[in-house]
Amino acid sequence: MGTPTFRAAVVRVPNGPDSIEVIDVPVVDPGPGQIRVAIAAATVNPTDIGVAEGFFHSIGLVNQPEHTGLGWEFAGVVDASGPGVDLAAGTRVAGLVVGFDRDYGTYAEQIVVAAADVVPVPDDLDLLAAATVPLNGLAAAQVVDLLGDAPAGAARLLVTGAAGAVGANVAVLARERGWQVTGLARAGDEDFVRGLGADFTTRAEPEWEAVADPAQLNGEALKLIRDGGAYVGLRPGMEPPTERGISVASVITAFDGTRLAGLLARTSSGELPARVHSVVRLHQAAEAHRATARSGLRGRYVICP
Ligand SMILES: NC(=O)c1ccc[n+]([C@@H]2O[C@H](COP(=O)([O-])OP(=O)(O)OC[C@H]3O[C@@H](n4cnc5c(N)ncnc54)[C@H](OP(=O)(O)O)[C@@H]3O)[C@@H](O)[C@H]2O)c1
Repeated sequence: MGTPTFRAAVVRVPNGPDSIEVIDVPVVDPGPGQIRVAIAAATVNPTDIGVAEGFFHSIGLVNQPEHTGLGWEFAGVVDASGPGVDLAAGTRVAGLVVGFDRDYGTYAEQIVVAAADVVPVPDDLDLLAAATVPLNGLAAAQVVDLLGDAPAGAARLLVTGAAGAVGANVAVLARERGWQVTGLARAGDEDFVRGLGADFTTRAEPEWEAVADPAQLNGEALKLIRDGGAYVGLRPGMEPPTERGISVASVITAFDGTRLAGLLARTSSGELPARVHSVVRLHQAAEAHRATARSGLRGRYVICP
């Protein structure tokens, strides 16, 4: 009998969706502190588009000798545990694999990760929705950490891309820190954005105390902020240069299990939004990338391998 394998979608020479291929990878047993998860759902995110296009290779963040994995967030079921792990086989979990430089990612039938890098999924949250939470929910929470509590008397926050996965979560979480949130989105997003408890605009005028910028408006967003205000983006190292005493910061999403458990619970109760647009199989990853790269998609493509 040959070595058992599983299927994973990777890029060898990154050149957009057509360069995505499905390969067979040897199955590995989890080591001490690790689990192997049978992946039920892996979300396609803008970051993955950048990996398949070679953007992150071009800036030196990927140096894989043979092929590069795709996919950061996932939900699935524990199918094996290594020594020292008390997560039983069959436990439904969600997790995040951070970093670009790896030979395979969550677009795969299975993955071995540290048990500390997953959390159980609440019983009444389906694995498709759960898979959309780790990257975008944690990114949003960390954007709001950088914004901090709204300053007294000057609490107007503009969230660009408020109909997107990160922006929608920022809109909800920032309100809880006292910000008066307005979501910048497309005309067709008005009901969704207002449903988050935010005000809505398609065209923002100055003067905001702060801008959170998932839509990557960058310098254009900075112009909207009052002197001494705050800008929080999601492109570390590519932030607009500061001006007029504005603080400029970016998020690099980090795993935080306690927080992820809270985000999943709040997604399950409907307090936080999780939108799934379509479910596709592993061999349709290229199609999902093409759709995700186009403007106008609402909700995520989720790969069920
Ligand atoms: N640094 C990190 O750790 C980290 C973590 C997560 C995400 N990110 C990055 O954060 C960004 C946002 O992610 P996401 O998942 O929220 O993306 P998303 O779901 O695609 O949302 C982006 C939203 O911005 C909207 N938008 C773009 N330009 C706009 C404009 N001029 N006016 C109004 N709306 C506009 C888009 O609308 P249309 O579709 O109509 O264009 C879309 O609804 C991505 O670049 C992602 O790579 C970074």
